[in-house]
Amino acid sequence: MTPQTWNATDYAAHGRFVSDLGGAILGWLQPVSGEEILDIGCGDGALTEQIAQSGAKVQGIDISTSMVEGAQKRGLQAVVMDATQMPFERKFDAVFSNAALHWIHDQPALLRNVAQSLKPNGRFVAEMGGHGNIAAIRVALHAALSRHQLGHLAADGNFYAAPQEYRRLLEEHGFIVEAMELVPRPTPLASGMAAWVQTFRRGILDQVPTELREIVVQDTVNYLQPVLCDRDGNWTADYVRLRFRAQVADFNSA
Ligand code: BEZ
Repeated sequence: MTPQTWNATDYAAHGRFVSDLGGAILGWLQPVSGEEILDIGCGDGALTEQIAQSGAKVQGIDISTSMVEGAQKRGLQAVVMDATQMPFERKFDAVFSNAALHWIHDQPALLRNVAQSLKPNGRFVAEMGGHGNIAAIRVALHAALSRHQLGHLAADGNFYAAPQEYRRLLEEHGFIVEAMELVPRPTPLASGMAAWVQTFRRGILDQVPTELREIVVQDTVNYLQPVLCDRDGNWTADYVRLRFRAQVADFNSA
């Protein structure tokens, strides 16, 4: 499995749409002034900042040092931390996450940590890649890598759950699911597909021999061109989002 690596500058140039499109799940969070909120996978803090504007006190965490530095530059409270190893106990009114949970391999550890971090009846509101997410992109990248006997690198380990599967996981960890939806969200890519692959599949490309990287990116783009690029040259990624709002039962007092 190939770990992803992030570069805050590339992300700001080619990945800004991730936070720009976070409005729907922010609407599900409805932060209230004075609340303590944890933002898992805060990235460079674009959405964290919007939560903080409600008057809530927000703590951001992210696994990437480069991203956390970006969030700190905005004046946000953000630290490098693994969401499967958080030290918080009954601290937060709400745990929020956008476009991060699918990167986490140990989902039971994540959900145990989130439940433990929430105050009794606290809420967990998140959006992540769901079942079928970026299916065409994954197939194309796998095909491009396989031409060079590098198909094994395509196993990114992202976890794109179906709704019934994630509902079951949440319930097994003491959550009551209040709302959940799987939503196809075709996503315009202003920077094009090559930039998307270079930014969001950087961890994979880093393991491709240098002389083949450009070829793998270009082959991926060529395979995808007939299905994800319109006749005017506009690219759209085949994103599918899983959104949910859940409440932790008063399981911490058990
Ligand atoms: C996502 O947000 O679904 C995603 C982003 C980059 C790579 C893979 C998935």
